[in-house]
Amino acid sequence: MGYRIGIVGAGFIGRKRAETARAHADCDVSMVYDTDGEAARVLAADCGATAAESWQEIAAGPVDIVVVATTHDALASISAACLEGGKHVLCEKPMGRHPQEARRALRASCEADRMLKVGYNHRYHPAVQQVYEACVSGQLGPLMNIRGRYGHGGRPGYDREWRAIPDRAGGGELLDQGAHLIDLAKWVLDDFAEVSGYVETHFWDMEPLEDNAYGIFRTVSGQIASLHVSWTQWKNLFSFEVHGRDGYAIAEGLGGSYGPEQARIGRRRPEGGAPEEKILPFTGEDVSWALEWKDFLAGIEGRGIPYALGGEALETLEWVYRLYEAARKRRAVDVSFVPSS
Ligand SMILES: NC(=O)c1ccc[n+]([C@@H]2O[C@H](COP(=O)([O-])OP(=O)(O)OC[C@H]3O[C@@H](n4cnc5c(N)ncnc54)[C@H](O)[C@@H]3O)[C@@H](O)[C@H]2O)c1
Repeated sequence: MGYRIGIVGAGFIGRKRAETARAHADCDVSMVYDTDGEAARVLAADCGATAAESWQEIAAGPVDIVVVATTHDALASISAACLEGGKHVLCEKPMGRHPQEARRALRASCEADRMLKVGYNHRYHPAVQQVYEACVSGQLGPLMNIRGRYGHGGRPGYDREWRAIPDRAGGGELLDQGAHLIDLAKWVLDDFAEVSGYVETHFWDMEPLEDNAYGIFRTVSGQIASLHVSWTQWKNLFSFEVHGRDGYAIAEGLGGSYGPEQARIGRRRPEGGAPEEKILPFTGEDVSWALEWKDFLAGIEGRGIPYALGGEALETLEWVYRLYEAARKRRAVDVSFVPSS
């Protein structure tokens, strides 16, 4: 079966998704739209696709799948309209500026019976997969805690880009890179029960949006995930550590500016001393995008359930907003708080 793909948003990630889809034998990128007409024309030309006049043309057009990779303000509404138009949708994280609009996209997916997957490509990084396997196989013993750190240092003028405009971005670094860490922690641990923490604007001129977020999530069984995301991480960093009673598993680096990707899996020696540690380097190109695309297609074809479908992504967004609430109220917020915006 061949898939005709529409791309809405021809920026950094839209191009990456288009190239990933094109590399797949069954996929043909046939329509591209961006509010920046030139960006759309260039990507369309590179893909041998048509530059559409509007995203509505793609939502109603002859395509099977739409990738929505716009700024956050347009993610949910365009995804909802494409689902209503009968397309399957891969929407970029965080699926909307806030849970309210993300719920609309999820509802459209249920009503139209079309797949809505959200782009959480970090789950498909080989080092992260190793960590996940180590957790679910039981080799770490009962899991106790997670320490996740993710960040970059922006660039001159970062506070003038769309990520610093509240109405376009919806949130700051917590909503941006924080959503990835929350997605990973939620995937590995038991259900979250409550969160406390802070969101701060330490450096960039972007208030009320935060450039750093610090969250402590507690699960129903008492496991803790301590997550820190930062746009003042002057040397890019990704580190995701899981500790169990019998050992630990750590994914670090994502390749490129985030440093070489590797997994470290360690076993506590009952007699004490340095743990037995295995290091697994992943030095090739970033395969996460291709693996995520394959997972999405498998879901569409009924050959599996992809990671991070709309419902799961909505829960991640709700935890983002519980942390915003916790920071605002200066106290822990539990799962009974349902964010309405
Ligand atoms: N998974 C990841 O690691 C990762 C990394 C970066 C960005 N993202 C996500 O991808 C999305 C896009 O981010 P980006 O870095 O590519 O940003 P970008 O600024 O490079 O691209 C966004 C594009 O969307 C276009 N756009 C804005 N509103 C539009 C609309 N209504 N219709 C059509 N096009 C519109 C802009 O003109 C721009 O070309 C965001 O949701 C972001 O959070 C994910």
